[in-house]
Amino acid sequence: METSNRTAAEIGTVDILCIVGARPNFMKIAPVISALRAVSPSIDVALVHTGQHYDKEMNDTFFQELGIPRPDIALGVGSGSHTEQTARIMLSFEPVLASTSPLAVLVVGDVNSTIACSLVAAKENVPVIHVEAGLRSFDRRMPEEINRILTDRLSTLLFTTEKTACEQLKREGVADEGIHFVGNVMIDTLYAQLERAVPPPETLRRYQRPSSAVEDKDYALLTLHRPSNVDDVAVLEPLLGAVVDISSRLPVIFPVHPRTAHALDRNGWRARLEEAGDVVLLPPLGYLEMLGMMRSARLVLTDSGGLQEETTALGVPCVTLRENTERPITVEQGTNMIVGSNPDRIIAAVEDILDTGGKAGRTPELWDGQAAQRLAAVVSDWLLTQPEYCSRHGLEKS
Ligand code: UD1
Repeated sequence: METSNRTAAEIGTVDILCIVGARPNFMKIAPVISALRAVSPSIDVALVHTGQHYDKEMNDTFFQELGIPRPDIALGVGSGSHTEQTARIMLSFEPVLASTSPLAVLVVGDVNSTIACSLVAAKENVPVIHVEAGLRSFDRRMPEEINRILTDRLSTLLFTTEKTACEQLKREGVADEGIHFVGNVMIDTLYAQLERAVPPPETLRRYQRPSSAVEDKDYALLTLHRPSNVDDVAVLEPLLGAVVDISSRLPVIFPVHPRTAHALDRNGWRARLEEAGDVVLLPPLGYLEMLGMMRSARLVLTDSGGLQEETTALGVPCVTLRENTERPITVEQGTNMIVGSNPDRIIAAVEDILDTGGKAGRTPELWDGQAAQRLAAVVSDWLLTQPEYCSRHGLEKS
């Protein structure tokens, strides 16, 4: 990952240190950085990239497409077990925190980079700002659930995407004044980029996989990457059986996450999928390609958290291949159905959508493209209560 080519020492003190690490972080940080940089009085923002994700298609593509400034500091930690990855991020982040003396560290989402940097900051008494706080699947076998609970516990300002998240935080004892319902910054990015979405036929031509189903917008889009679905052959095999079955009614476009690619290759299932059914396997797609692919799909099959929200914003039916969701509003108000990994249930859900058109859904409150601006206003007000910020910027403390 290219950086601004400055060391942490050369960057000097900053007001807010923003953290990204993995693919779903990038579309969340883009509007947040722009909004923070736009407020007055000014906020000095620097961006740290932990390097949790590093492949071009999982990483650089997003920075280019979303116009995210190059990270000021890249930690380059790479892959590893949860402990290795989290520990490496913590060790590499500690000196960056020390030399930039931020007034707060801002983290997004629920990946290992989120908790690792929050923990370092909290131990150094630097306030943590968590964007996308309060979401709970109530399933601690999910690594992200641990990351969410702990990050929220350590945070001073907690920004939520839905009101159930505020209620959850209050139940966990978080003080009211720290909780701010501002809406969904990832959906800010979706609306901002929708016009630039790549038409699906163009994407398939790029990979030399032209398909009439895509020309006719008559396809299902599939993504799978949760360890609970892809790491265990006993779960993955029947799941893929359901996909082959569905593809006899509706061709399936399947951009494959690296974790899933390892599982398919280990088990020799790549060829089987393409031979047995009408399944088009692609590498991970860029943001604008994925947005185009989602927008035109008859339905989306996924175990991603982000896609559950994006399909709700786009009004596209979503079949979630998990037993639970930390984003209940996508079910209560949006187009999402929680179906699990049982093949019969998945096939029945798809047939129901094909027969009835699926749930209509509506856009949740404050998913209006302005969430980052509301967030930046709260952060700005909070900074004005911090004597150090006022002295750095020559302001009266409010
Ligand atoms: C991580 C997040 C998950 C998020 C997902 C989105 C955690 C605990 N999990 O899961 O919440 O939904 O990102 O993609 O933080 N790999 C590559 N190239 C890369 C990155 C990873 O090949 O650029 C491969 C490596 O073999 C690695 C594996 O993918 O071991 C998993 O990567 P990792 O970051 O550990 O977790 P994800 O499954 O991507």
